[in-house]
Amino acid sequence: MHINIQQDYSQMSKKAADKIIDTTKRKEKVLYCFPAGDTPTGMIKEVVAGFNSEKIDLQEKRFVSLDEWVGLGAGVPGSCLNYMTNNLYSKINIPKENICFFNALADDLQEQCAIVDNFIEEFGPIDICVLGIGMNGHLGFNENGVSFDLNSHVIELDETTKKVSAKYFSDEVCVKRGITIGINQIMKAKQVILIAGGLHKAKIVKAALEGEITYEVPASVLQKHDNFHVFLDEAAGSLLEKGR
Ligand code: PGA
Repeated sequence: MHINIQQDYSQMSKKAADKIIDTTKRKEKVLYCFPAGDTPTGMIKEVVAGFNSEKIDLQEKRFVSLDEWVGLGAGVPGSCLNYMTNNLYSKINIPKENICFFNALADDLQEQCAIVDNFIEEFGPIDICVLGIGMNGHLGFNENGVSFDLNSHVIELDETTKKVSAKYFSDEVCVKRGITIGINQIMKAKQVILIAGGLHKAKIVKAALEGEITYEVPASVLQKHDNFHVFLDEAAGSLLEKGR
């Protein structure tokens, strides 16, 4: 595990993006998995700038969905696909067929899981899997207690996740379930990058990185990944003993 603590959010975002660009430049084919949320916005902005300024050829670059709120589609601000489209896909020259995203409006969500699993099977394993961390330690929608052996699946959202979700949506949106790639696919990624910023994340970051590996804190499993890079701002890293 490599822990990189930067002074503030913008430097954390820049350093994480530099790592992604650096790995990208050394590979022709790359399968990325990026998270939505408050945390990754700065990093994604830097990645877009890097792709464009370095004139990275995206014909052999692919993006797979991390997760989505069941019942929400691209038309809803706050959905993961809406976020990814606005922040990333619309800003780079990526062929449409190089993107595979859960359709969380579909009647058959198991089929959606199969579509994403097959994409990862065909083009994977994921080369660069970027993750945020939930206040409960979730990764994507791998909520507390989830098995570490799963691939894509549908899951009941944890109460913390439901509560936190209010920050993304207008009042009338009510989310109960999520669809997500599984810990098995995350752990098979060649490189995993975790980003977290702010004092409100300090406790869960400490539990995930320095606590015991437990199903109750899904992010703690990342301690076992052998190419795992953490980018934090000072506040999120303020309770850590190691790496400071
Ligand atoms: P956030 O979400 O970046 O909006 O804090 C992180 C997460 O829930 O994974």
